[in-house]
Amino acid sequence: MTIEQELAGKIESRAARIAVIGQGYVGLPLALEYARAGFTAVGIDNDPDRVAALNLGQSPTPDVSDEELRELLGSGRYAASGDFRTLAASDVVIICVPTPLRKSKDPDISYVVSAAEQTAINYHAGQLVILESTTYPGTTDELLIPMLSQRGARIGETAFVAFSPERIDPANKQFKVRDIPKVVGGATPACTALAAALYRTIVPHVYEVSSPTVAELAKLYENTFRNINIALANEFALMCRKLGVSSKEVIDAAATKPFGFMPFYAGPGIGGHCIAVDPFYLSWKMRLNGYEPRLFHTADEINQAMPDYVVEMVTEALNARQKSVNGAAILALGVAYKANVGDIRESPALDILAELIAKGANVQYSDPWVPTAPIGDAELKSVELTQAMIADADCVLILAEHAAFDFRHIVGAARLVVDARNATFGLDAPADRVVRL
Ligand SMILES: NC(=O)c1ccc[n+]([C@@H]2O[C@H](COP(=O)([O-])OP(=O)(O)OC[C@H]3O[C@@H](n4cnc5c(N)ncnc54)[C@H](O)[C@@H]3O)[C@@H](O)[C@H]2O)c1
Repeated sequence: MTIEQELAGKIESRAARIAVIGQGYVGLPLALEYARAGFTAVGIDNDPDRVAALNLGQSPTPDVSDEELRELLGSGRYAASGDFRTLAASDVVIICVPTPLRKSKDPDISYVVSAAEQTAINYHAGQLVILESTTYPGTTDELLIPMLSQRGARIGETAFVAFSPERIDPANKQFKVRDIPKVVGGATPACTALAAALYRTIVPHVYEVSSPTVAELAKLYENTFRNINIALANEFALMCRKLGVSSKEVIDAAATKPFGFMPFYAGPGIGGHCIAVDPFYLSWKMRLNGYEPRLFHTADEINQAMPDYVVEMVTEALNARQKSVNGAAILALGVAYKANVGDIRESPALDILAELIAKGANVQYSDPWVPTAPIGDAELKSVELTQAMIADADCVLILAEHAAFDFRHIVGAARLVVDARNATFGLDAPADRVVRL
């Protein structure tokens, strides 16, 4: 039996031992999905606090409840660990570590390098190694594979390597890991076949492509598509405001077309770990190849200007009431980058609130998902949302459309609402009291 056949057999019989490096929004649900499918999965993380919390059954992500985590811990098919030597006992290693940007907006690939180094150190013949972190095209071929090859791995013969982008959308109740098709691109046909067989044990559809680079680019195209379309919605909202029309109403109307259209909506700016970040991985790589992407840069300019535009909306709304930002009591609702998550990475709310504070506003925020948030030089604490809190604010500023907020009640109780999410769209309110993007 060849090494490839042996590994294929272990995958089919669920005897393959799976290690997932990085137990965050992506890695934890993935490891648990394999445990649920009957594999033994270990979640490896270099943050000891996270490992300890996971082993106590405390989930850091809204997509995994403490109950399901405890159930899988109890089954013995999942455990978290900080010990990379566990990799040496694994048949499959999946890398799901962060890929942020440096201050210069160049890719920070250090987490992938470190996880790949650990994988290479613990490599043994017969392993399948899959990179899932969103990254620049060429990472698998140029970074991961050489590290394994240096340890004696013969790709496609003794080691199998693929890229398969993670596509989860945290807090999306309709589409979880098991509902989202996987794209898989292996370094050789055998690598693709093994990685695809593994994913078929947990997802209904696997789409095979001809190389890791195609799979890396597919993910970057998806998120650049979103980034550019959000920019279009943002610019469209600015145009609609000049015409005195709601962009939300127009986009909802356009979305009734059953083909050739997909709605994106305006907001206070782009945030999160993906849409705000991933296109820079592509543009960085393209610049190295002598090409400067144009469309994305225009989109980024529009998206980056949105936080200032929201500050301007607040300033104008207060001004219309003969009030200045300086000294105004502003209650922000939501600082997370999107609804129903506690993720504040790249959240435009942080810049908006820092700017309002710099202009002299007394800013408070309420966000059931984010107990504390770094705003400028300060660390603000979320306040409980009470009737008095809403009524006392000179301006209630809606920045995240969390389901926990009762927007009808808020509109009824507030003196002035600036709604940067169109969360109050459709609610009856005088135009001078509710200003929408
Ligand atoms: N969050 C999303 O919605 C989403 C969706 C699709 C793809 N992605 C991509 O998936 C990747 C992971 O993102 P995430 O949101 O899960 O990040 P995360 O910050 O939630 O989790 C990453 C985890 O990896 C751990 N870690 C960092 N370096 C490590 C190392 N060298 N060894 C072991 N553990 C390490 C961290 O402690 C953390 O627990 C990124 O490339 C991201 O772009 C994220």
